[in-house]
Amino acid sequence: MARLAALFALLAGLPAALAVANVTGIYGIVERRMPQHARDFVFTSMEGDGDVFVVSDTVNKTGSITVTCTTTSACARGLYTYATEFGGVDIFWTGSRLHELPSPLPKVGTPINGSAIVQYRYHFNTVTFGYTTAFWTFDKWSLLLDWLALRGVNMPLAWDGYEAILTEVFQEFGLSDAEIFEFYTAPPFQPWNRFGNVQTAWGGLLPMQWISDQQALQKQILPRMLELGMTPILPAFTGFVPSNMSAHYPNASIIDGSAWSGFPSTLTNVSFLEPFDPLYPQMQQSFITKQQEAYGNITHFYTLDQYNENNPFSGNDSYLSSVSTSTIASLRAADPEATWVMQGWLFFSSETFWTNDRIEAYLGGAQGNDSMLILDLYSEAQPQWNRTDSYFGKQWVWCELHDYGGNMGLEGNLAAITEGPIAALNSNGSSMVGMGLTMEGMEIGNEIVYDILLDQAWSSTPLNVSDWVAKWAARRYLVKTLPTELQQAWTILSTTIYNNQDPNSQATIKSILELEPATTGLVNVTGHHPTEIPYDTNTTILHALQLFVNASKSQPSLKQVPEFAVDILELSRQLMVNRFIDLYTDLINTWNSSSSTAQNVTTAGVPLLSLISDLDVLLYTNENYLFSTWIADAKQWAHGNVSYAAYLEYQARNQQTLWGPQGNINDYASKQTAGLVGEYYATRWQTFVVMLAEQKTSGQPYNATEVSQTMLSIGQAFDLKAWGAAAGETWGTKGDTFQVVDRVLERWA
Ligand SMILES: *[C@@H]1O[C@H](CO)[C@@H](O)[C@H](O)[C@H]1NC(C)=O
Ligand SMILES: *[C@@H]1O[C@H](CO)[C@@H](O)[C@H](O)[C@H]1NC(C)=O
Ligand SMILES: *[C@@H]1O[C@H](CO)[C@@H](O)[C@H](O)[C@H]1NC(C)=O
Ligand SMILES: *[C@@H]1O[C@H](CO)[C@@H](O)[C@H](O)[C@H]1NC(C)=O
Ligand SMILES: *[C@@H]1O[C@H](CO)[C@@H](O)[C@H](O)[C@H]1NC(C)=O
Ligand SMILES: *[C@@H]1O[C@H](CO)[C@@H](O)[C@H](O)[C@H]1NC(C)=O
Ligand SMILES: *[C@@H]1O[C@H](CO)[C@@H](O)[C@H](O)[C@H]1NC(C)=O
Ligand SMILES: *[C@@H]1O[C@H](CO)[C@@H](O)[C@H](O)[C@H]1NC(C)=O
Ligand SMILES: *[C@@H]1O[C@H](CO)[C@@H](O)[C@H](O)[C@H]1NC(C)=O
Ligand SMILES: *[C@@H]1O[C@H](CO)[C@@H](O)[C@H](O)[C@H]1NC(C)=O
Ligand SMILES: *[C@@H]1O[C@H](CO)[C@@H](O)[C@H](O)[C@H]1NC(C)=O
Ligand SMILES: *[C@@H]1O[C@H](CO)[C@@H](O)[C@H](O)[C@H]1NC(C)=O
Repeated sequence: MARLAALFALLAGLPAALAVANVTGIYGIVERRMPQHARDFVFTSMEGDGDVFVVSDTVNKTGSITVTCTTTSACARGLYTYATEFGGVDIFWTGSRLHELPSPLPKVGTPINGSAIVQYRYHFNTVTFGYTTAFWTFDKWSLLLDWLALRGVNMPLAWDGYEAILTEVFQEFGLSDAEIFEFYTAPPFQPWNRFGNVQTAWGGLLPMQWISDQQALQKQILPRMLELGMTPILPAFTGFVPSNMSAHYPNASIIDGSAWSGFPSTLTNVSFLEPFDPLYPQMQQSFITKQQEAYGNITHFYTLDQYNENNPFSGNDSYLSSVSTSTIASLRAADPEATWVMQGWLFFSSETFWTNDRIEAYLGGAQGNDSMLILDLYSEAQPQWNRTDSYFGKQWVWCELHDYGGNMGLEGNLAAITEGPIAALNSNGSSMVGMGLTMEGMEIGNEIVYDILLDQAWSSTPLNVSDWVAKWAARRYLVKTLPTELQQAWTILSTTIYNNQDPNSQATIKSILELEPATTGLVNVTGHHPTEIPYDTNTTILHALQLFVNASKSQPSLKQVPEFAVDILELSRQLMVNRFIDLYTDLINTWNSSSSTAQNVTTAGVPLLSLISDLDVLLYTNENYLFSTWIADAKQWAHGNVSYAAYLEYQARNQQTLWGPQGNINDYASKQTAGLVGEYYATRWQTFVVMLAEQKTSGQPYNATEVSQTMLSIGQAFDLKAWGAAAGETWGTKGDTFQVVDRVLERWA
């Protein structure tokens, strides 16, 4: 803890002009990711405002590069700028390619510099801790934290181990362990318990072992964040309490929260201790103190959401402002410099409730513009800052949401991501202070749309998208210049798929293959979970895929580049799921035809089922697309305890399938992964085709309820399955991506 305390002294104590960037942690990145160059970089600190770096050749030492910076984060960004622009290498979610940096290191020549255009570069959505990182161990965290640091992120959310502190607080206030653990949800559902959306674990109570393991993980994550120059945002006491709290404090103002997403009231309607009750600041003080004791005084930023998809008890302005006045008072009593960080999703999702008057009353209750930091959560498509007069002066962050539930589907709007934040920053009276990513899940296919935003945070004018894409793709494939075919392919993609101006489909586009089969309601859905395809597949996805295949033939070494393999798989996957829509439409048209027979329906189902099986074969060829990885990651936390492993496996499966015991938000976090496609979605569609054919034979009216109940039981059976793989093992890959892609083109182009 000594080094945490030392860093804290730096953060908190010294006047800005004397602050010295501690660059020790940046040498750590070099050692981890490019060990052969461990002695080839020099990082030094300089005085100056903001985050600024200068990269130059080290004087009198050939083959050495010097990065000088005003902050630790700026030094990391300087190293990244060098690696990407001079070294032609990058680090991706699929792995770090920084070790491919040439030796000797390329010269810089005239020094280059860069500076961040905003004070805060932010990362995470509270629910990313459910959809993506729920079962991660520190190895995966370490890669992501380097990815973030190098891109210049200096403000990540850090939720792990929250329940360790919270449990101690509840115990101190007299609740029994039975009462406390009845409140918690299971591991991959913790974010929604923290939001007060759901309570009580279906499938078995949360084990204490999970909580202590997560706190141990947090004790690895936080020091790493600090040494990489990041200020973590830590949790606070929100007010959500076990339902028995009111039995212990009959006079306390504890109200029943609202119901969430159709869950039965035993699993939702979470009890909320109102912040103006005298008990609230006591519990807040207890929470913050315990958290400081556990991790040191490492931050003044606290994430605290009271009304995320929960409506307040009252819509009176005076009620709302008294809630926020009391909330910030409780935080500042515990930490006088506290800033309250809040996700602004509610202002969009509950737009009718959150009128401008109510938003002004709620935000205004917290005195001072620096008392809060609002994450404008969906700035690229549904900004709220512009209807709220820049959040009535409160500090806010321009955030890209883009992905719901870790869904997969190529989509993006690069123009909105590059021009949007610059326009917002330059708007009259702007109180924007940061830029960041708030994707619900970090799914693999669209990394480009996240990368470009974090680059935009270091450029005061909108990036030139076509230049940027060409450079990004070249280093992604480890080539000096992009082969002509790939230049063409990326021009197509960046001007169509990634230039999606359709206001109805501004998010990853979900495939109907992953949705519960039904005769209506699947195709052309717009809005929250769009299934409408806003581009022509033949001239975009298919054409780009053919160009990728040609490139792999004229330059076979590309096949060895992991990101090239992922991208060719992505295009093939997208082609297939788009073709699925046509096959589904054929099936339904056949079934709807008065002259068709059961045999006609069965025949129309054949290509559809065959596509699903081919898709599973494709996904099996790449380690990034295995459902078994999610399961194996979950099971590794069981320490060999068989029943605990089964519990974790059920929870992991349930999140990506039924999301709740009864399919409560069915398929919200669906994925196109090997196993999920070949076992789960395949079974549902096979059963559906059989049911449609049987209906033709029987002549009884189609019964949608019966179909849906059958699908639910398929889901429940799937969730209770157990895979043989030992903890920590996946099933491994099968087959060669490039051979399978050739077959995909033969069959599905
Ligand atoms: C670099 O080398 C030259 C010649 O040996 C010397 O005069 C100069 O002081 C050196 N500069 C630094 C910064 O070491
Ligand atoms: C950054 O580069 C510009 C243009 O070369 C130069 O004018 C400026 O002084 C440099 N800033 C720093 C901090 O080196
Ligand atoms: C909650 O309180 C009720 C009433 O006092 C009690 O019967 C019940 O056992 C408590 N629940 C738990 C989980 O202890
Ligand atoms: C700089 O950070 C490192 C950890 O990355 C720590 O060990 C060291 O004590 C810090 N130095 C100062 C002066 O705070
Ligand atoms: C609750 O309030 C009533 C009436 O003011 C009082 O008599 C009682 O002692 C209080 N109970 C507790 C547990 O504070
Ligand atoms: C749960 O909340 C809903 C409002 O969202 C309300 O209608 C319902 O009565 C609540 N149920 C319970 C048991 O409090
Ligand atoms: C942390 O901050 C609290 C008050 O916010 C203070 O009481 C405590 O002494 C601090 N701890 C350290 C190690 O500085
Ligand atoms: C805010 O910006 C969005 C996106 O450009 C636009 O759709 C919306 O109409 C704007 N709202 C207001 C109130 O100007
Ligand atoms: C979906 O939209 C496409 C393009 O507008 C149209 O051709 C197709 O008929 C629609 N399908 C359904 C089922 O509405
Ligand atoms: C796309 O290609 C398929 C297969 O060749 C063809 O059936 C379809 O008509 C084409 N669609 C459009 C819109 O051109
Ligand atoms: C049904 O199948 C028969 C025999 O293959 C075929 O002649 C007929 O056109 C089909 N009808 C429909 C509506 O698909
Ligand atoms: C539809 O199926 C459900 C579930 O099997 C059944 O309860 C219901 O009676 C059926 N409806 C009709 C109209 O047959």
